[in-house]
Amino acid sequence: MVAPVEAAARAAFLRSEIERHNHAYYVLDAPTVPDAEYDTLYRELVALENAHPELCTADSPTLRVGGRPLAQFEPVRHDVPMLSIQTETDTESSGALNFDARIRRELELSDSAPQVEYAAELKFDGLAISLRYENGVLVRGATRGDGATGEDVTQNLRTLRQIPLRLKGDAPPVLEVRGEVYMRRDDLERYNAAAAARGEKTLVNPRNAAAGSIRQLDPAIAASRPLCFFAYGLGAVDGWDTPETHAGVLDALAAFGLPVCEHRAVLAGGEALVGFHRKIAALRDSLPFDIDGVVYKVNSLALQQRLGFRSREPRWAVAHKYPPQEALTVVEAIDIQVGRTGALTPVARLKPVFVGGVTVTNATLHNADEVERKGGLCVGDTVIVRRAGDVIPEVLGVVAERRPADARPFVMPDACPVCGAHVVREPGEAVTRCSGGFSCRAQRIQAILHFAGRRMMDIEGLGERYVERLVEFDYVHGVADLYRLTLDDLLEMKRRADERDGTVPETAKAGQVPTRWAENLLEGIAASRRPPLARLLFALGIRHVGESTAKTLADWLGSVERVRRAPAPLLAVLPDIGATVAAAIADFFAEERNVRAVDDLLCPEIGVAPADEHAPHPGLAEKLEWRELYAVLGVPRLTPVRAKQLAAVVDGETLAAQGLNAAALSSAGIPADVIDALTDWLKGVGNRGLLAALAMRRAELLAALPATPAGGAPVSLLAGKTFVLTGTLPTLKRDEAKDLIEAAGGKVSGSVSKKTHYVVAGEEAGSKLDKAIELGVAVIDEAQLKKLLEEGVE
Ligand code: IVH
Repeated sequence: MVAPVEAAARAAFLRSEIERHNHAYYVLDAPTVPDAEYDTLYRELVALENAHPELCTADSPTLRVGGRPLAQFEPVRHDVPMLSIQTETDTESSGALNFDARIRRELELSDSAPQVEYAAELKFDGLAISLRYENGVLVRGATRGDGATGEDVTQNLRTLRQIPLRLKGDAPPVLEVRGEVYMRRDDLERYNAAAAARGEKTLVNPRNAAAGSIRQLDPAIAASRPLCFFAYGLGAVDGWDTPETHAGVLDALAAFGLPVCEHRAVLAGGEALVGFHRKIAALRDSLPFDIDGVVYKVNSLALQQRLGFRSREPRWAVAHKYPPQEALTVVEAIDIQVGRTGALTPVARLKPVFVGGVTVTNATLHNADEVERKGGLCVGDTVIVRRAGDVIPEVLGVVAERRPADARPFVMPDACPVCGAHVVREPGEAVTRCSGGFSCRAQRIQAILHFAGRRMMDIEGLGERYVERLVEFDYVHGVADLYRLTLDDLLEMKRRADERDGTVPETAKAGQVPTRWAENLLEGIAASRRPPLARLLFALGIRHVGESTAKTLADWLGSVERVRRAPAPLLAVLPDIGATVAAAIADFFAEERNVRAVDDLLCPEIGVAPADEHAPHPGLAEKLEWRELYAVLGVPRLTPVRAKQLAAVVDGETLAAQGLNAAALSSAGIPADVIDALTDWLKGVGNRGLLAALAMRRAELLAALPATPAGGAPVSLLAGKTFVLTGTLPTLKRDEAKDLIEAAGGKVSGSVSKKTHYVVAGEEAGSKLDKAIELGVAVIDEAQLKKLLEEGVE
């Protein structure tokens, strides 16, 4: 055993190493060691402390996992009270100017006196706490409480890896650090996803999450919550040569190893504060955590002292707010919307509330599980609604204590509210679906709207209103019917709609019938007859087939016919198409009704046909090797390695026709359990037929492959290059630029990373441009893009 004196030295060394790595990882976001090495150090310390319990000091990182649950929190008297901060509710720039004017008045500065210097920082939305360090060691952490007395939450605060247990450098005998515990939004989402998966209650918002976690008596709960901390000020201090300015204090705290937010500035005068308020407003939605404003503090501590306090607020600081992103409102009703795939989505109808810059009246509740997770939402409930940036408004949770006695709980209906068909919820699925399919009016409307959409058939003028009427009055049953519409149909439809709604247009009173809109609509429909294959496939509304899957199908198979005849395994070998998507496509075409609809659409009388059908992709031969196909059949134990072995012995045609020769497989080194699994699979209903069909389709496709061109593969000028578009380009719409890039073999991504090759920036380019510059990614304009499209990338 190690001698105690050496053990003590070793423990001290381990503590400081572990904390050094902690600081690098959690505060600086710049890890210094691999996780495994950190774990080794940590385990050694645990072992040492177990052998010599006296070595477990107050600053030992082993305390971060939290100790025993407390019966109650001990009160803590704050030597220096924890004050609150005066709020400037005027969210306009005058808020900053008023504060500056007040400070100048109180300091009795004349108009000609120089600008006052301020420290500006963010107003974090979490829980205020005070950390007491004695000789550099964290001895106590407390909540604010009533400002004079708080609660001792040391155990919980020690679980925050960002809070140093020992300060770096030369720490004074006493240093109390004030700051905010908060939770990042991404951490909250990740935590909630995991909690939901475990069937546990989720956290409502970051602020409640932070406050709730720190006030838990069981430190294990705090330890399980991803909490963060920012220092923003001082409490009691003894034996420290305090810097002369607030900015100096923050720098010193950062040097002690405390996290201090980087978004801070020293500014002179009111106008500069206005600039800061604006700059942070623009940044607000992209910050990883919530803020509800900014804080201005007179920078000089001497001036702060001169200004002093008024009741419980310092005169030298103010919080300048932003419009709230969260608000309380009441759920007036919960409606059900039926989507294209039949999904029933509960939507909360809210008492209108102004939040995040707009009036919000609806919020999606996603599905029954989500409603449950939000505390079993009732009609009549008061809820917290959030809307940040361009994000769709969401209901974060229920204010339980405001639930009225007559609140009606939401229940998912068991019949579709539109067509009355029964609803189904597959086991393991969160979504409840109407079983009515295309005979459900809601699904028909949504399917037709999807079909006509801009990235699909792009039928100009065919909006929601017309589609609803066309379906309601039964002019359009399937999408093909759109192409059968006549001018008379449209005019009659309009007349019936007006009659039903009791609206008599002015023109009709005058004895005229306007026809221009109908002619335009017919023109729009006619103009959509020759879409690119990928768009047509996307337009069909096959479950799980989005724009990029549709493009893969089009690129690789080249015709609607080949897509629809392809059995699932044949689709599953295509790039980025997995078993689920492949099955969804095959299921779609296995359904008689869908086949009829597609046939109808593509029949000569209607005249819809993709403009660019072509031979299958030359690379398909390789994808259709039996070793590839075997691996995606879904046979248990038939891993890619085993599939390859199997393919070396027998091809699919033979296997389908003659069945299994176990001896041959065995002598090829295929283990018995794999052979058994394959034998069972071949006995499964329809599986041998599937294999035979697969072999046939495979042969057809191989026969359709183009002879290898003499010059090799077709030229793709931008192959392998990733582009990001930002801002408004002078002539190209974003979709057009995207299409051109993709047609030239390039990829368009939504966010800039080191892997981006070019950022195409137009007017009012935003943060993506900043990111590109930061990462050194090439930035080009539309003209340069066009040049690349013609000449390719050298
Ligand atoms: S300074 C003497 N700075 O706002 C002033 N407070 O009403 C003491 N807060 O509960 C506070 N961000 O939790 C200060 N950068 C910041 C802040 C901040 C958030 C909170 C704090 C306190 C409340 C003050």
